[in-house]
Amino acid sequence: MAEGLPSEMSVIEDAERRGRTGRWPFWRQAYAKGDPLPQLACQVSRPTYRFDEGEALPEEYKELLIKMLRHEGERAGNKSFLGFMATCLDIAEALFPTAEAKLLKAEYLAEELKHAIMFHRVAVGLQHDFALRDVPYAHYAFHLPRETWADDAFFHFFVDLNGAFHARDWRESSYGPLAKMSATVERDELGHSEMGYYFLGEIVSDRRGRELVRRLLLKWYPAALDMFVKSVGNAEIRQAYKSYVDRKLVALGLEPPDERAGRRFL
Ligand SMILES: [Fe+2]
Repeated sequence: MAEGLPSEMSVIEDAERRGRTGRWPFWRQAYAKGDPLPQLACQVSRPTYRFDEGEALPEEYKELLIKMLRHEGERAGNKSFLGFMATCLDIAEALFPTAEAKLLKAEYLAEELKHAIMFHRVAVGLQHDFALRDVPYAHYAFHLPRETWADDAFFHFFVDLNGAFHARDWRESSYGPLAKMSATVERDELGHSEMGYYFLGEIVSDRRGRELVRRLLLKWYPAALDMFVKSVGNAEIRQAYKSYVDRKLVALGLEPPDERAGRRFL
């Protein structure tokens, strides 16, 4: 690093630090009370080996990593991700009721773009031509219509939380670059979920808002549980996720729906 030039990391950290206002980032309050996420006693035995960037990787291992990164979507070179971020801006502009809510959404976007840089780096470290691969969002939760502020609030509360649960799992990853970024991604995604929860709290504060949220819960709750597709350990993660969101919904005076109702993947 040339003499006197600030490191890239310090510039990003400084930008984040200057962005910390009263409410943002929401993860601060959540982690101030200890670990907000449930402990997962995952049955899958943890690998004893570990690989770092640039090391020769077994072909099957590399394919699995790339498959996982395809699923993650947040990557600077993924056109579908950038398109999704643009729809987020449209929604904030058209549906968000206050300047504060719009600013919070802008902070959220800035953080997702930070993730996009981090995942981009991992992608390039694995396979150069993967860096610009467009991977459309496959899961239907990303395609459910967001026609109201409440829809968008539920999207963040449920879907970003899914990201936090997955990032928690990477803490034990045998791939160094992924393990290294897992705590930051987990924390940020939990903050995004808390942003959605904060918006829901605002919306249910009046009778009409509460009725709308009750109705939309039946749309978003099954989609959230359906994000944990059948695989080893996922039933346990889904159960932990369900207990977490049910507790939060009850705290807002909402009744968690039947977990089998409206599901597409049972
Ligand atoms: Fe997020």
